[in-house]
Amino acid sequence: MVKRGAFIVFEGIDGSGKSTHIRLLCDALRQQGYDVLRTSEPSRGRIGRFIRDYVEHRRNRLSPEIEALLFAADRFEHVKQMITPALEAGRIVISDRYLHSSLAYQGAAGVSLEWIREMNRFAPRPDLCILLDVRPETGLGRMSRRRRTVFEVYTFQQRVRNLYLRFVEQGELVKVDADRPVEEVQQEVSGLVRNLLAGASESP
Ligand SMILES: Nc1ncnc2c1ncn2[C@@H]1O[C@H](COP(=O)(O)OP(=O)(O)OP(=O)(O)O)[C@@H](O)[C@H]1O
Ligand SMILES: [Mg+2]
Repeated sequence: MVKRGAFIVFEGIDGSGKSTHIRLLCDALRQQGYDVLRTSEPSRGRIGRFIRDYVEHRRNRLSPEIEALLFAADRFEHVKQMITPALEAGRIVISDRYLHSSLAYQGAAGVSLEWIREMNRFAPRPDLCILLDVRPETGLGRMSRRRRTVFEVYTFQQRVRNLYLRFVEQGELVKVDADRPVEEVQQEVSGLVRNLLAGASESP
């Protein structure tokens, strides 16, 4: 049998606490002796770097369809170069954003969800996908970065969140209420990961 690690993804709107909880989780798992690869999307690959530059400088906005294609291209490289080799080596891969970010963000911008799913068919399914769910006002309040107009951003974040919550109902994401103190949220996150890893070691 092929040795395989575990693939865990964190999703959530901007400022939901992904970086915070991924850092805490990675530290805890490493202390327990697990070999963890921490990664994120946009990735550090060639297309990921292009996307980061685009997202940060947003001079000429590309159409959301082109954004979806770019994110899928980056994901293809990310999966091939980083995720699959690490899983095959038996490592735990923890990714800050993955397929459901494309579905929620480009979906909220009006792109067909089916088309996004279709172009991402190559992407392996995570073993656990955690949605850190916060109200947009919480997320925006936690962010220090400046944004264009609060209202515009707020309504967009609201749409993104609603799509994420739809994926929870469809059983694709597990929701954790992240509108609570960090320690409480982290406790729930570690419980979910503990269950996943316990299940993995029991299987033949
Ligand atoms: N449960 C929480 N309670 C209070 N503050 C929190 C909580 N979770 C995160 N924070 C704080 O909110 C800020 C944003 O969190 P973080 O950077 O982890 O979010 P993120 O989801 O990674 O955001 P981004 O999308 O911008 O990368 C940080 O200053 C963090 O310390
Ligand atoms: Mg972050």
